[in-house]
Amino acid sequence: MIDLRSDTVTKPTEEMRRAMYEAEVGDDVYVEDPTIAKLEELAASQLGKEAALFVTSGTQGNQIAVLTHCQPGNEVLLEEDAHIFYYEGGAISAFAGVQTRTIKGQRGAISPSDLKNAIRGDDVHFPETGLICIENTHNRAGGAVVPIDNMKEIYELALEHNIPVHLDGARLYNAATSLGITVNQLAQYTTTVQICLSKGLGAPVGSIIAGDKEFIERARKWRKRLGGGLRQAGVIAAPGIIALTRMADRLHEDHEHAKQLAEGISSIPALKVVNQVDTNIVVVNVRSSGFSTEEVLSKLKDEGVLAVGFGAETIRLTTHHHITKSEIDRVLTILNKQFG
Ligand SMILES: Cc1ncc(COP(=O)(O)O)c(C=O)c1O
Repeated sequence: MIDLRSDTVTKPTEEMRRAMYEAEVGDDVYVEDPTIAKLEELAASQLGKEAALFVTSGTQGNQIAVLTHCQPGNEVLLEEDAHIFYYEGGAISAFAGVQTRTIKGQRGAISPSDLKNAIRGDDVHFPETGLICIENTHNRAGGAVVPIDNMKEIYELALEHNIPVHLDGARLYNAATSLGITVNQLAQYTTTVQICLSKGLGAPVGSIIAGDKEFIERARKWRKRLGGGLRQAGVIAAPGIIALTRMADRLHEDHEHAKQLAEGISSIPALKVVNQVDTNIVVVNVRSSGFSTEEVLSKLKDEGVLAVGFGAETIRLTTHHHITKSEIDRVLTILNKQFG
């Protein structure tokens, strides 16, 4: 199977498996696991933050960030297709007791003037704006890179109003790779950031949240409340260290493969690539093929290619470190055969 459903399907490398076996461990609820400590220090330093915390998933990291930043009754501003709003089961309302106010963005980027209009004034009728969430790269916008200038403007506006900015950076290393800059340069325009180790970076499990020391200590308490305090967690942190030190440098290959895929698909009239391919995600409208999304997915599966539905008429194909150039050639041959 050529599995293009997501970069989450990546399996740990040999080196990661060895590191898991050899990891020094301790009880991380007592803050005694040396491998967790090493991973958290490394992540904090790459992200330019004072401290970091290992969490089990991107969703858990985002939830802990909202719980730590907000009070019940606050309003959270976020892009209308943001993962936190769209894909996290309404968790920020269920757990943090906040309400969301979504803003339509452009390729995942919220316009600072729209954001300014959405920030609540001081009025007894209004909820307080407790948090601004941004996402880079933006998943539903097809892995779009949110420009650094947009992040800077949003951060400056937020500072003026004393509102924290949380970045869902599940694929922040992809954004930095595409821009040719460091994750630190992007994260400087945020109060807190969440990054996923288990997507393009290839670790089997885990995410990091990073911010100042005081925030991370309060986040640690929320993580414990949510049942996310882990014991000998070094075995799952060890591959995370390899993810951060070895895997980020190869993400450009995934981006090149996604571009190769998009270019090949653009010569098949029945299929239309609908996103500008900045990183590792290609979104394809299949309406003109005369088949439904489910039919297209099933035909691909029969040929040994997995993709996911991504809306009424679209499918998403995501490249990652198990996908080679020749597999992309093979996918294009299959697409041509089925839909060309
Ligand atoms: C932008 C974004 N944020 C957060 C997440 C959640 O990560 P996890 O699946 O580890 O909970 C994802 C997962 O795909 C994502 O794409």
